[in-house]
Amino acid sequence: MSKLSICCLGAGYVGGPTMAMIAAKCPDIKVTVTDPNEARIVAWNTDQLPVYEPGLDKVVASARGKNLFFSTDVKGAIKAADIIFVCVGTPTKTQGVGAGRAADLKYIEAAARMIAEVAEGPKIIVEKSTIPVRTASSMLTILRSNSKNGTFQVLSNPEFLAEGTAVADLENPDRVLIGGEQTPEGLAAMEKVVSIYARWVPREKILTTNLWSSELSKLVANAFLAQRISSINAISGLCEATGADVDEVARAIGSDSRIGAKFLKASVGFGGSCFQKDILDLVYLCEHFGLPEVAAYWESVVKMNDWQKSRFSARIVNDLFSTVSGKHIAILGFAFKKDTNDTRETAAISVCHNLLKEGAKVVVYDPRVPEAQIRSDVLGSEKNPNLVVVKSALEACQGAHAVAVLTEWDEFKGLDFKKIHEAMYKPAFLFDGRNILPHAKLKEMGFRVFAIGKTV
Ligand code: NAD
Ligand code: UGA
Repeated sequence: MSKLSICCLGAGYVGGPTMAMIAAKCPDIKVTVTDPNEARIVAWNTDQLPVYEPGLDKVVASARGKNLFFSTDVKGAIKAADIIFVCVGTPTKTQGVGAGRAADLKYIEAAARMIAEVAEGPKIIVEKSTIPVRTASSMLTILRSNSKNGTFQVLSNPEFLAEGTAVADLENPDRVLIGGEQTPEGLAAMEKVVSIYARWVPREKILTTNLWSSELSKLVANAFLAQRISSINAISGLCEATGADVDEVARAIGSDSRIGAKFLKASVGFGGSCFQKDILDLVYLCEHFGLPEVAAYWESVVKMNDWQKSRFSARIVNDLFSTVSGKHIAILGFAFKKDTNDTRETAAISVCHNLLKEGAKVVVYDPRVPEAQIRSDVLGSEKNPNLVVVKSALEACQGAHAVAVLTEWDEFKGLDFKKIHEAMYKPAFLFDGRNILPHAKLKEMGFRVFAIGKTV
């Protein structure tokens, strides 16, 4: 083994998979992933990983116990490490200045203070969490003014993986971005981290830049991706009003190489832990730096997404003769996208909420999200017998007035819709919030079908 030792603070959706990939690709580097959340660490050490990602179990199994370790001993791992990746959460602030917009940096600050307290000798700190531009400067101030024996270089190395495809994204990234101080020490630290990725990522895909460009690029990348979804979702409304088909429009515009085909899938609305949070953070930064027009421009991406989510549930109520009170609505899919068990900011939360408020009985099935998660996401600590979680799609649809597809799980494409139709009240309504089902065929079977941005 080489002498290089890495530790990671945060064993979540980013820390776990990214560190597992580094360990798998660099068997001579010791990688310790730490988290104070004991349940998470216990799970990482079993075959029931806390994060569901296709292929992740194999990557973890190839390195765990050899050069990949999961531990709650955060301080011990910091002491032993040359490079410390910070992968803690940066959720939207819920109170105080910037509440509802700015990123809450309390976990970042706590991590920096802990590193300053225990680190000895030279350490490279790598911000992998998504943070507002200039956070590295705050981290350096905390580190340098609190540490007795440590010397620090702070780098920015934002993560661009998407959930559901994390393993493929990490294995073959479009780019790896590393920002650092443009000093001899900063450049040397960057080269150390570059050389880790260079074990499996072609050098020309490893971009180096200054700290502030790197930090800002991450927020901007997410804002641009989300903007494309809001743009096509905005057009989906116009398609429904005019008879155009949003998938055809997306195909036509996406064939223009200047526009490109990706991220033009109209949907019930984007979810996930990052798009909304990062755009709101960008909005806050723009306001802070006296750019209200820029702030308003980006905020409209989130507003459009809110509109898309609420118009979907409104459409269900409207089509079901203006009332869903006492009616059974089957919800197929709760995760914010397929192939993940993550439900943060999923459109399903607001759709379920709205339907429950209208008095519907909401029966949810998701192949990967546990019942307790669905309950706490929709109801918090409240009890409501109108929310029911079941173990199969067919069970959810039994006796339903309407079925709504909210996640594009592949399993839904193969369902026996004839059987489902028979099991439902008539007229049987189907709302495809992901445009994944064969609408014409379903119509022939007798369903009344609503799809995003289409006339069926
Ligand atoms: P997460 O909530 O799944 O994981 C964060 C973990 O950090 C938690 O388990 C928490 O217990 C732990 N933690 C908090 N303080 C700690 C400390 N001092 N020491 C050690 N562990 C600590 O979050 P996530 O989804 O992994 O996201 C982490 C960051 O990465 C966020 O800034 C997010 O914006 C960014 N990001 C996320 C994704 C994604 O797909 N989820 C992709 C790119 C970037
Ligand atoms: C997104 C980015 O794609 C990653 O590059 C980034 O690293 C990550 O955020 C992050 O910073 O957390 P993620 O949220 O995991 O990744 O998943 P996406 O594939 O981007 O999907 C986000 C949401 O948009 C999902 O709800 C998805 O269903 C929706 N979506 C996506 C659409 O509605 N239409 C599309 O065309 C694409």
